[in-house]
Amino acid sequence: PQNVTQDERGCLTVDGVDAHTLAREFGTPAYVLDEQDFRSRAAAFRDSFATAFGPVTGGADVYYAGKAFLCSAVARWVQEEGLGLDVCSGGELAVAQRVGFPGGRITLHGNNKSVAELRQAMEYAVGRVVVDSLTEIDLLACVAADLGVRAQVLLRVTVGVEAHTHEFIATAHEDQKFGFSLADGSAQRAVEAVLAHPDSLELRGLHSHIGSQIMDTTGFELAAQRLIQLHGQINQAHGIRLPELDLGGGFGIAHSPDDSPLTPAELARQLAAGVDREFERLGDDPRPRVSIEPGRAIVGPSTITLYEVGTIKDVTLEDGSTRTYVSVDGGMSDNIRPALYGADYTCVLANRVSDAALVRARVVGRHCESGDIVVRDTELPSDIAPGDLIAVAATGAYCRSLSSQYNHTPRPPVVAVRGGQARVIVRRETIEDILALDVG
Ligand code: LLP
Repeated sequence: PQNVTQDERGCLTVDGVDAHTLAREFGTPAYVLDEQDFRSRAAAFRDSFATAFGPVTGGADVYYAGKAFLCSAVARWVQEEGLGLDVCSGGELAVAQRVGFPGGRITLHGNNKSVAELRQAMEYAVGRVVVDSLTEIDLLACVAADLGVRAQVLLRVTVGVEAHTHEFIATAHEDQKFGFSLADGSAQRAVEAVLAHPDSLELRGLHSHIGSQIMDTTGFELAAQRLIQLHGQINQAHGIRLPELDLGGGFGIAHSPDDSPLTPAELARQLAAGVDREFERLGDDPRPRVSIEPGRAIVGPSTITLYEVGTIKDVTLEDGSTRTYVSVDGGMSDNIRPALYGADYTCVLANRVSDAALVRARVVGRHCESGDIVVRDTELPSDIAPGDLIAVAATGAYCRSLSSQYNHTPRPPVVAVRGGQARVIVRRETIEDILALDVG
C-alpha cells in the first residue's frame, strides 16, 4: 500500500497503525487493507480513463471487479468513488444490494448464471447482463419477459488473443469455456439471438476479457481492435448503433521488484490511442462509450497479510546449501495463489530491525501439504524467531476471495486502516462458525 512505512525500530506501520498494535488487537493472520490506497487507485482509474477516453469515445466507465475482493465496506467505497461494480454471482450481487449500490451501475457476469440469479438481477434492475451462451440468452429473455422488464445486454466475445499469463487465468483463446467465438461465427449468431427478443432484451454492445495479471498492453490493444471490427460489422449488418464497448479487466500489478506495471494513466493513454486508431481506420461514427473492469489493479496493492512466525527449520539442499523454512500461522487457506498459479510474493520482517545477516528463506504455511508456500524465495535475517511478525505485500486481490477453511482453519479478518484508525470490516471466522455448518 502507499501508506506503509517502517520506522527506525523496524516496525511496519499501515497509515499510522503499527504492526504490533494490529497483531495485538486483531490477532494473526490478518489481512490489513489501506482504505486510502484502495480509494486512490479507484479514483486514478476513474479519472485517467475519463480523461484519456474523453476525446476518443466521449469518456469511459470503470467497473470494479468484485471477484477480486468484495465486502460491504468495499462496495460502499466503490459507490462513493463513483465507479460501477462488476459482480459474477448472486452472492456478490447480494453484497451490492445490502449496501444499496445503484442497480444501474452494476454489471452481472458468469458463464452459468442460474434462473434465480437472473431474476435477482432483473428485480434489482442491474444495468448490464453480460451474456455468455445461447442457452442464457433464451433464459434471460424468459425471465425479463416474465417480470415485464427489458434486460440490457452485453455479449461476451472470445477474441482469440493469447494473453501472456497463467493458463488458468487466460480467457480469450479459443479452447476455454467463456464467450462466443469470433472465429467460428458464434458471436454473429449470438447477436441475432439477442435481436430476436426485441421486447425483453436490448443489445447494448460487446464485451471481451482476455485474462488476468497481464503486464503489457499489446493483448488488450489487439482484443480491442478485433472487438471494434466486430462492432462495426454488427452495426452495418443490422442497421443499428451499439452504444457501448466493454474491454474487461486483467491489468497486472507488481509482485516483485522486477515487475513494472503501467500506471492507470499510462494504461488509459495507450488503450485510448489504440482504440482511437482502430475507429479512425474503420471510420465508424458515432463511437460507443468504453468501459473497463479492473479488480486486481485496484485492490491488490492495498492490502498486506500479517502473520506470526512459528517454527523455523534449516534444510540442506542437494547442492549442500541451506534454505531456512519459516512457518507462519496461515498459508494456502488465506492465500492459495502460490500453490494454484505459482504466484510469487514478497515479505518483510514487520516487528523489529535486525542486524543479523540475511539467509535464503522460504515462508510456508501451517497446512498439511508441501505445496503450502506463502513466499517461495526470499531473504530473512538469520535471527528470525518464533513470535516475529511477517508482512506479505499485495495480497488484496484473490486472496480473501479465494480463501478456504482447509484443515478446519477459520478465515482471517479483514482490517481496514485509515488515518491512524483500524477497524474490522470482515470479522475473523471462529471454529464455532465452522462447526455450526456441521449438522450431521
Ligand atoms: N472482468 C471479467 C469478465 C473477469 O472475468 C475478471 C476476472 C475481471 C474483469 C477482473 O480481472 P482483474 O482486473 O482482477 O485481473 N483468481 C485469479 C484471477 C481470476 C480472474 C477472473 N476474472 C488469480 O488469483 O490470479
